[in-house]
Amino acid sequence: MKFSRIFILLFFTTFVLSEDVNYEPSTGLVKPAVPTFTAPSETYNVSVPAGTYNVSLQSGTPIIPGLLPGMTAIPTISRQDIAARNAELFTLDNLNPNRDVEGALVETFFKSTIGVLLDEFSESFGIREKVANYYLGQSDDFWFKKAQMQTKFTEHRQAHRVYYYFNKKQLTLPPEQVWEFNLGKAYRTKIGVHDYIAVDVDFYSVLVTNAKTINTSEPALNIIDGKWSDHWILPVDPEFLLQKTGFACIDKSYTLTVESENIWAYYNDSCETEPQPTSEYPAICCADVLNQNVGFVNVTITWHRIPYTENVAKKYRFGNHSSTFSDLVGIHKNLLEETRVAYRYHGRNSCELHEQCIGEYTSLNALYDTCAYQGISAGWGDDYRAGLACQWVDVTGLPAQTALLGYVLNPEGIGFQVQDNTIECTPGENVTLGFYLQESKQTPSVTVRICESSRVLGSTHCEYVYALANTIVELSSNESNPAKVTFKCPIARDNIETGGLYSILVAPTFIEDKFMFVNIVTCK
Ligand SMILES: *[C@@H]1O[C@H](CO)[C@@H](O)[C@H](O)[C@H]1NC(C)=O
Ligand SMILES: *[C@@H]1O[C@H](CO)[C@@H](O)[C@H](O)[C@H]1NC(C)=O
Ligand SMILES: *[C@@H]1O[C@H](CO)[C@@H](O)[C@H](O)[C@H]1NC(C)=O
Ligand SMILES: *[C@@H]1O[C@H](CO)[C@@H](O)[C@H](O)[C@H]1NC(C)=O
Ligand SMILES: *[C@@H]1O[C@H](CO)[C@@H](O)[C@H](O)[C@H]1NC(C)=O
Ligand SMILES: *[C@@H]1O[C@H](CO)[C@@H](O)[C@H](O)[C@H]1NC(C)=O
Ligand SMILES: *[C@@H]1O[C@H](CO)[C@@H](O)[C@H](O)[C@H]1NC(C)=O
Ligand SMILES: *[C@@H]1O[C@H](CO)[C@@H](O)[C@H](O)[C@H]1NC(C)=O
Repeated sequence: MKFSRIFILLFFTTFVLSEDVNYEPSTGLVKPAVPTFTAPSETYNVSVPAGTYNVSLQSGTPIIPGLLPGMTAIPTISRQDIAARNAELFTLDNLNPNRDVEGALVETFFKSTIGVLLDEFSESFGIREKVANYYLGQSDDFWFKKAQMQTKFTEHRQAHRVYYYFNKKQLTLPPEQVWEFNLGKAYRTKIGVHDYIAVDVDFYSVLVTNAKTINTSEPALNIIDGKWSDHWILPVDPEFLLQKTGFACIDKSYTLTVESENIWAYYNDSCETEPQPTSEYPAICCADVLNQNVGFVNVTITWHRIPYTENVAKKYRFGNHSSTFSDLVGIHKNLLEETRVAYRYHGRNSCELHEQCIGEYTSLNALYDTCAYQGISAGWGDDYRAGLACQWVDVTGLPAQTALLGYVLNPEGIGFQVQDNTIECTPGENVTLGFYLQESKQTPSVTVRICESSRVLGSTHCEYVYALANTIVELSSNESNPAKVTFKCPIARDNIETGGLYSILVAPTFIEDKFMFVNIVTCK
């Protein structure tokens, strides 16, 4: 399904113009920029509600940091004065056509292991072996995507480095488009106590950047051959991480935003130190939870300054340097992923000559890396992921109106099929159901999920974390010995959604497996 949409820049209106905003970095509503170093492959002009503010978005017009029209003073926020002064110096420097730019190259590499966790597949009826063989037979393309997914988990901590090392700014990996993975062969192994199909990977890529900005990220890289390493605890299988580790491995400022599809963007592998555990914020160490439920790999990422050569720079410099796009662009991936707002500053007549928007002209760290002073520097972007709390809504094509907003989750019903719609129960009371399969008529194992239903919309699919219950039903279950689940019948949400409704959804292990619906017995 294709959507086209307009991106609404609530970011500026909320966080620059409004004064009654909590600027603590932990608000979870705004995040520092991440590098794009790039021109987008697919771009949309950013649409700004008319009259909100007066910043010109025309091509070739940089947004000068400082007071925006309508503001009489920049509200005082700690470190804001320093950030503002840096931004001003940076802008003045960029406007100088004779400025001195020394290119720098930093190679980045690490060894890791990725895999598919098999623990959750039943060992009965050869199901796990069938699944294992399926994954052993996957192409490099499959493992490449998995390696990309695991590598993306490092983004949050590297882009928020200022919160980990008081005086060091971002030190990220190069843009995704120039990542190189050298993949080994898939093999069956144990990682911790976990059963895996695993693949060893070597990562390599090079950052093309501006030498004079290196010091504020990592002084060790000031000199040629300088090295710096960061250690990372990463899940060997990066999929379904929220389902397997809950909120143990995320930045707690983003609990309103995190869901199973975007958890990589808020991954924090540091161990929890604060003592008060709640059900949402367990006081347990991410590495312990990973070890227990997933299996982790301890990865050392190394940044290594190498001598500058044009050939290497050319290979890893990324992006389209033409200046036909507007400076501020929304780079759209898809609804379930993210929209990135990127600022491509073009110096006067210079971009065409020297590729000044990226590469050697992109600073290794973004000027605006905290909430103290908001903006986007050239070559950097600000990512808005689907679900980012309070930030966006897609109103493409809608006429002006007052209407309720809603969305359809999993419209094609991929994975789960609704077996029973809107079954009545008594709100707040426990319901126990039993399930069994009919031998030889279907796949030997199906997953059953119980979701809350709506009085208005009927049956609604639900994500794992929001399910009332999940269970696996195998052939070994029968009428007298069914697989049982107990869940609380949904209570009222308001006077329309009065609760008391649930649905039963079912899915086979392999999508192509034929199966009949599960048989249900009501248990006491
Ligand atoms: C962006 O806006 C400019 C000026 O209105 C227009 O010429 C251009 O076609 C637009 N680009 C895209 C990608 O929509
Ligand atoms: C925006 O700029 C125009 C022209 O410079 C001016 O007339 C208008 O008052 C400005 N609007 C705001 C909200 O500052
Ligand atoms: C790097 O930054 C530190 C701290 O700001 C400063 O003391 C030092 O002189 C800088 N080094 C270089 C080589 O610029
Ligand atoms: C990461 O987690 C640690 C431990 O819970 C916490 O102290 C730190 O502030 C977190 N950092 C970020 C950026 O979320
Ligand atoms: C990961 O490796 C680093 C460096 O070897 C080590 O200091 C750290 O304790 C390891 N962490 C875990 C959880 O094994
Ligand atoms: C770069 O952008 C120009 C202008 O939009 C376009 O014609 C050209 O095909 C692009 N080049 C690449 C390599 O994407
Ligand atoms: C409902 O089920 C939960 C979890 O199984 C149990 O802790 C609770 O005591 C049950 N409540 C009633 C009223 O039976
Ligand atoms: C049901 O399954 C149980 C346990 O697997 C078994 O002991 C029992 O004989 C089965 N009953 C029927 C009717 O098949």
